[in-house]
Amino acid sequence: MSFHFADRIKRAPESFLSELFSVSNNPSIISFAGGLPSTSLIDTEGIAQATRQVMEEDARIALQYTTTDGYLPLREYIADRYRTRLGLPATAEEIQIVNGSQQCLDLFAKIFLNTGDHVGMERPGYLGAIEAFSLYEPVIDTVPLDDDGPDLAKFEQFVRTSNAKFFYGIPNSQNPSGRTYSQEKRKAIADILRKSDTVFYEDDAFGELFFDSKPRPPVKKYLPEKCVISGSFSKIIAPGMRIGWIYAPPEILAPFNVVKQAADLHSNFLCQKILHRYLTTHDLDEHIRRITRVYGGKCRLMCDLLNDQLPQVSHTTPEGGMFLMATLPPGISSRRVFDEGVKKKVAVLPGMPFYTDGGGEDTIRLNFSYPDEEMIKTGISRLAGVIKGLVHQQ
Ligand SMILES: Cc1ncc(COP(=O)(O)O)c(C=O)c1O
Repeated sequence: MSFHFADRIKRAPESFLSELFSVSNNPSIISFAGGLPSTSLIDTEGIAQATRQVMEEDARIALQYTTTDGYLPLREYIADRYRTRLGLPATAEEIQIVNGSQQCLDLFAKIFLNTGDHVGMERPGYLGAIEAFSLYEPVIDTVPLDDDGPDLAKFEQFVRTSNAKFFYGIPNSQNPSGRTYSQEKRKAIADILRKSDTVFYEDDAFGELFFDSKPRPPVKKYLPEKCVISGSFSKIIAPGMRIGWIYAPPEILAPFNVVKQAADLHSNFLCQKILHRYLTTHDLDEHIRRITRVYGGKCRLMCDLLNDQLPQVSHTTPEGGMFLMATLPPGISSRRVFDEGVKKKVAVLPGMPFYTDGGGEDTIRLNFSYPDEEMIKTGISRLAGVIKGLVHQQ
């Protein structure tokens, strides 16, 4: 039987995920290839307590349908955090709850993109965004990401020539590179976009995960009317709850709400209630400080081990987040490192899927949030053996 799927399915990039899943299901392989937060830092006891309270006091309401925009007290909590933490004048009316910030990517593309429209993103770019946008059949233009943010000359040229609907960027601890935009670049990007019709989509999945616990001013601060931010509780509370949000001007939220309703009526109300109960009965800042202390330590450990054991490999040095990116010695392909790594029981993520226009063969993404310190030590030592072996064979 042959099925006649829509053309857009053919546009979805080939996924490397099935290979990765088989690797991550093999417990003898140390995987730096995934993108999970640390399991041991999920406050299971606190979430269990909040769940019991909601079920005892509020079960009939929490298990009913609710409104598409989400649980108002949770939206108020999120807006309040933007006001106090980042000085943004957010209100609950500008916040819409979604099923993890990944859903924002799909719904945002759905309201903005016609086939053939231009959209911009960083090079390398977040794979989940490439996958989500591709289904709407846009032309994806990329702007090289330097250590301190997008190449400004290329960014300006992209804005001037592409007439793009939006540019998607991750200014804080970008996935896959771990890079963070400088404040000057944030301002410059806002200045360039102010004179255009291009919206800035600011994915802030990692903004709470700076190792020094200090917030960085978002691009939205400099471009309030033409910028949306997506945020998520996945990296700071628990990804399995699938609760994220979009913070956007009302003109964008209105159509966004329409497509959200068509997609799923609303996000899981029980989880929204539990999350709100958890947030209002626990010290979120203390919890995040714990996470960033641990991630900061793991990141430093991974960087030090790479410097000691693989000086011929250059890598980014993240200020936060969960990933770093490494560039392999000349002539060594990341696909070979993946294949040989699996044989030696260490997995890395080859960089190619992050480059929509080709390239990245000499790069790998390494995750440091999920493996513990012993795994990082053993895994980097195995990786060093693999890469040195490949260099030797040249
Ligand atoms: C940059 C970025 N944006 C969005 C997401 C989606 O996360 P979630 O849907 O769990 O909020 C991820 C997940 O890793 C991510 O790395």
